[in-house]
Amino acid sequence: MEIKNTVEELPLAYISEYKVTPEECERVVREINKTAKMRILVLLGSPHANGNTAALVDAFNRGATEAGHEVNVVNVAKKHINGCLACGYCRGKGEGQCIQDDGMQEVYPLLRKAQIIVFASPIYYFTMSGQIQSAISRIYSMQKPPLVQQLAMLLSSYSPNVYDAAKAQLRDMANYFGAKVAGVVTADNSENLTEAKLQEAYNFGRNL
Ligand SMILES: Cc1cc2nc3c(=O)[nH]c(=O)nc-3n(C[C@H](O)[C@H](O)[C@H](O)COP(=O)(O)O)c2cc1C
Repeated sequence: MEIKNTVEELPLAYISEYKVTPEECERVVREINKTAKMRILVLLGSPHANGNTAALVDAFNRGATEAGHEVNVVNVAKKHINGCLACGYCRGKGEGQCIQDDGMQEVYPLLRKAQIIVFASPIYYFTMSGQIQSAISRIYSMQKPPLVQQLAMLLSSYSPNVYDAAKAQLRDMANYFGAKVAGVVTADNSENLTEAKLQEAYNFGRNL
C-alpha cells in the first residue's frame, strides 16, 4: 500500500482492514515523514557570497545534509534573473515554460523536484531583496512547484522587527502552494554570524 502524506489521504479501507485509528495512522505518517530524505532547494538572494545570509544558509545546509536530506543552494542574486514580463507566454503556447532565456532556466528543474523550498535573503527596505523577488515572480510560469510540501525562510537584517512583510509573503505562498511553513530563522545585527544564531540555523536544518 502506498503511504500518503496525510491521514486524510489514507484510504478508509486501510483503517478498517488493519483496525487502526486515524490518530495512530497520523502518528505513523509523521514518523515516516521525519525519517524521509527530502529534496531541499535553497534560493539565496544576497549579492554577498560570504555575507550574513550566506552564513545562515551554510549552517542550515550542514544541518539538513547531516540529517540525510539532499540540499541544493542556488544564489539567484548571482544568476542574472529578470523579473516576470507578464507576457502570458507560459499560460498559452508555452504550456508552463517561461520564454525568457536567462538564469532562471537553471532554477526551474530544481523547483520541479523540490519538496522543501527555503527562501534566504537579506532584508532590503523591509522585505526580501529584489534579486530573490525576481526569481519568485518567475515561479508564476509553473503555477506551483509540483512536489513542494514545506517552505522556510532564513532572513538577515540590521534591525530587529523588520520581518513582517517577508513572513506574510511566506505565509501566503505556503497557502497557495498547499505547503506548510516549516519555520523562519531571523538574525539582526546583534545576532548575525554569532555562534548561537548559526547553531539555531544548523538545528533547524538538522531537525526538519
Ligand atoms: C539596499 C539595502 C537595504 C537594506 N534595508 C534594510 C532594512 O530595511 N532593514 C534592516 O534592518 N536592514 C536593512 N539592510 C541591512 C541588511 O539587511 C543587513 O546588512 C544584512 O545582514 C545583509 O545581509 P548579507 O550580508 O547577506 O548581504 C539593508 C541593506 C541594504 C544594502
